[in-house]
Amino acid sequence: MSSQSTLSKKSAVTDPDQSPRPRPRMTVPKFMARKGGEPLVCLTAYTAHVANLLDKRCDLLLVGDSLGMVIHGMPNTLGVTLEHMIMHGQGVMRGAEKSLVVVDMPFGSFEESPEIAFRNAARVVKETGCAAVKLEGGAEMAATIRHLTRRGIPVMAHIGLMPQSLNTMGGFKVAGRDERDWQTIIQDAREVEKAGAFSVVVEGVTEPLAEKITDAIAIPTIGIGASVKCDGQILVFEDMVGLFPRVPTFVKRYGNMQEMIEGAADTYAEEVKARRFPGDDHVYTLNRTDG
Ligand code: KIV
Repeated sequence: MSSQSTLSKKSAVTDPDQSPRPRPRMTVPKFMARKGGEPLVCLTAYTAHVANLLDKRCDLLLVGDSLGMVIHGMPNTLGVTLEHMIMHGQGVMRGAEKSLVVVDMPFGSFEESPEIAFRNAARVVKETGCAAVKLEGGAEMAATIRHLTRRGIPVMAHIGLMPQSLNTMGGFKVAGRDERDWQTIIQDAREVEKAGAFSVVVEGVTEPLAEKITDAIAIPTIGIGASVKCDGQILVFEDMVGLFPRVPTFVKRYGNMQEMIEGAADTYAEEVKARRFPGDDHVYTLNRTDG
């Protein structure tokens, strides 16, 4: 690994006096103002260098709890801890300069009471420097969203398919296939908006329902497995670049990093075994012209 960082700059967390910033960071009010306008580009990011690569191409980077699956190899998101989220959040904040960075509240860190949610969310904000948190839940989480937003922590809500409710739902199920369920989900969207959420992720719902939700509320809807009519879209980075084997319907692969990594590792192994690596360009000589 190179000893020189390839990050273009440090974040405000590690370098609070650095200025001027070449481009201002996306803020919660600016994000909200994009409702019904140019679609918001959102991706997950879990490491500093990936965050740095995605930063100028995105409006929002989410440190989502899907990191439990795509980075740590867990079977679902339920085992993710606050410590995981904080550690990855810190890395992403070091790499991201202009995107709004949002960190997910993991299962068990916010459901018990609004007070416990505040304590844990405040820790996330203090220790990472992120601008907002995301939490799963509709009407049942409205009191918690209100408690946090009124105390200075912007909240992105998450409705529809909620992976942290895996066990109560009995699996990952698309919501809204039956029109009789629509009202409950639209009501969830209205309640989280009323409670002060600045935006809402709408996951795994049928397309017409996602459109209805988007029309029903005045905050941006960010779709994943939802509809092109949402105010923005989000994908898990590892899914998008082929670094994770699952390919549900809603994932479009924009690259194949698995092939690239396997190819690179095969060539490396071959060259090591044939003693072709390291070659002349990758060894230090006595004359000191090689850095
Ligand atoms: O954790 C995550 O990656 C998410 C996205 C699916 C929105 O919550």
